[in-house]
Amino acid sequence: MTAALIVAAGSGERLGAGVPKALVKVAGRTLLQWSIDAIAAVPGIERIVVALPPGALAAAPDGVLAVEGGAVRSESVRRALAASGQGDPVLVHDAARPLLTAELARSVLAALAGDESVDAAVAAAPVSDTVKQVRPGSDVVTATLDRGGLWAVQTPQVFRRDALERALAAPQEVLAQATDDAWLVERVGGKVIVVPASEENIKVTTPLDLELAELLLTRRRRGVAAAGAANPA
Ligand code: C5P
Repeated sequence: MTAALIVAAGSGERLGAGVPKALVKVAGRTLLQWSIDAIAAVPGIERIVVALPPGALAAAPDGVLAVEGGAVRSESVRRALAASGQGDPVLVHDAARPLLTAELARSVLAALAGDESVDAAVAAAPVSDTVKQVRPGSDVVTATLDRGGLWAVQTPQVFRRDALERALAAPQEVLAQATDDAWLVERVGGKVIVVPASEENIKVTTPLDLELAELLLTRRRRGVAAAGAANPA
């Protein structure tokens, strides 16, 4: 059975909404609720643990286990993992990605289940921009990366429990550097694979992202309503 962790303890300063980002409403539901609803529709999910900002635990929706998040993202993952029981594999998702679908979560879980040599499988989309490296603190380009081998990594990320536990046992300063959990697995020699995902699975960081999420989720909700009207139960 799978344990699902949703990290939602970020402050969302760049969004400037005045409430924690995960609790901002888009297309009628909070960002967090959109992710919970997608994950709840995945077969084999044993428990959903949500890491929330200190003081926001009362905002946890019914049916999930809420824990207080940490000062950095990986610390929030570590706390949620500790509360998650024995479920294996472990699916980790950012509440900042409300366009998650149950189908995407299922395909990432299936990719891990399909290869015993793999420690983690992560949703990702091929990069379409040309990406250049610039010397830090300057405007000088030092390299143009080969786009053919670049993938923009998203969540969900799915891990074998022992691999994630080992990866998260890293020192505090390493956890503070991690922008995703798969990197922590890579740095201790684990094998990570990408699973093709839609670019629509955006991360909401800025007010522009929020507008785009509103548009896409409203379209999705209308699509579901239209399908329901065409096929009444
Ligand atoms: O800050 P960023 O957008 O990269 O955060 C990604 C995800 O990690 C968000 O869903 C956010 O709520 C979560 N997070 C967390 N605890 C932190 C920082 C971020 O759960 N201390």
